[in-house]
Amino acid sequence: MERGHQDDFDRQDRIEVRANGPLEGAVAIGGAKNSVLKLMAACLLTEGTFVIRNVPDIHDVAVMADVLRAMGVSVSRVGDALTIERPEAIIPEAPYALTEQLRASTAVLGPLLAGIGHARVALPGGDDFGPRPIDMHIAGLEAIGCRFEISGGDVHAAADNLVGNSVLLEYPSVGATENVMMAAVRAKGTTVIDNAAREPEIADLAGFLNHMGGHVIGAGTSTITVDGVEELRPVEYTVVSDRIEAATFMAALGVATGEITLVGARLDHMAILCRKLGEMGVRTSSDPDGVWAMCSGRLRSADVSTLPYPGLPTDCKPLLVAMLSVAEGVGIVTENLFSGRFRYVDELVRMGADIRTEGHHAVIRGVDRLSGAPVRASDIRAGAALVVAGLAADGITVVSDPHHIDRGYEDFAGKLSALGADVCHERPGD
Ligand code: EPU
Repeated sequence: MERGHQDDFDRQDRIEVRANGPLEGAVAIGGAKNSVLKLMAACLLTEGTFVIRNVPDIHDVAVMADVLRAMGVSVSRVGDALTIERPEAIIPEAPYALTEQLRASTAVLGPLLAGIGHARVALPGGDDFGPRPIDMHIAGLEAIGCRFEISGGDVHAAADNLVGNSVLLEYPSVGATENVMMAAVRAKGTTVIDNAAREPEIADLAGFLNHMGGHVIGAGTSTITVDGVEELRPVEYTVVSDRIEAATFMAALGVATGEITLVGARLDHMAILCRKLGEMGVRTSSDPDGVWAMCSGRLRSADVSTLPYPGLPTDCKPLLVAMLSVAEGVGIVTENLFSGRFRYVDELVRMGADIRTEGHHAVIRGVDRLSGAPVRASDIRAGAALVVAGLAADGITVVSDPHHIDRGYEDFAGKLSALGADVCHERPGD
């Protein structure tokens, strides 16, 4: 590398990884990113002061806090607790400068329609995974009385009277289920959401809404019944633990071997994943503190197919691909949720992985060792997967653009280091 380029590279924020033997010890799993973002949006439903605990200190939470602040809501953090004060009058708008950074900001639509009666939310557009439409959110909300118009890149939404109805989702979309639930909680009468998403984060949101005085029954199953109520109240609530963060440390264990405890993790939220990990050679069991996991030899390959919960999460797929890259044998991975979620594969190939992709499929022939290389994180999970791969690579793996990882993981490098990994987040500006 020429000196000038080398200097630029040295100045970049990056994560450096070196293989360093087995992982050992305990790691605290934080609150689920994909739950807390929706709980924050749900605070728009009513005036007053909310406290949300077990909130990870991650970039996406900071952006959602900015989305709320732009509306006139006050958000402050002390330790792992967020205090959210929603005043009586708010500006029900989410600008493009924020929504383009955080797709999940569309979760404000349902609560704004239920709490204020109108909203203007800039459409975030597609991303590295492919198109990310919100047509199902809109169809579901229309069924209970909301009206929509799209102009100037914004969704303009209004609802004079929300009225309970049957909502049959075309697909169990997480975001659509949540938006309809958050609006239906204040509708007149009963809403039945069929083909609802069943993720633990949906059940967590229902728990939050019920704590507020809502009547949501069946969250966690495919049929959710919401009896609308006239009043809701602000609450204190603790976020469910992050099953994808837990899966990330189990993937790291798989490639580095060792024995770890995932404090606060929920085995019951990762049943199919843990069965797949078991096939590959990672043992897991419930532990009084959370989940215990062990891996003592080289991983074995397995076929992997992503599906909505309780199937194998698409968010775990990059981590499983990193594991299969160094497993014994051949694994076939099929992505069923997002069309473009294989971008990081080229980075793994640069590290010596033997992977061929064809449409929604990847064929991975495990190699003995990877070789450390400069690679680039393209999204949260892809970035985490590259760090995981670096634990099984000779030499140094340098992951640039680690801000993607910071979007969803609190102190990822620090937590891995505490388990004995040689991982360092270099922040030259600090
Ligand atoms: N879809 C539509 N129309 C819609 C909504 C979704 O066609 O109106 C399609 C999507 O394009 C996609 C599929 O349905 O192909 C699944 O999308 P879903 O709505 O279930 O996902 P999401 O709510 O946008 C959440 C998580 C994602 C996770 C997916 C699937 C949050 C903030 N995000 O997204 O998490 O991959 O569910 O489980 O909750 C991550 O954490 O890195 C992440 C991307």
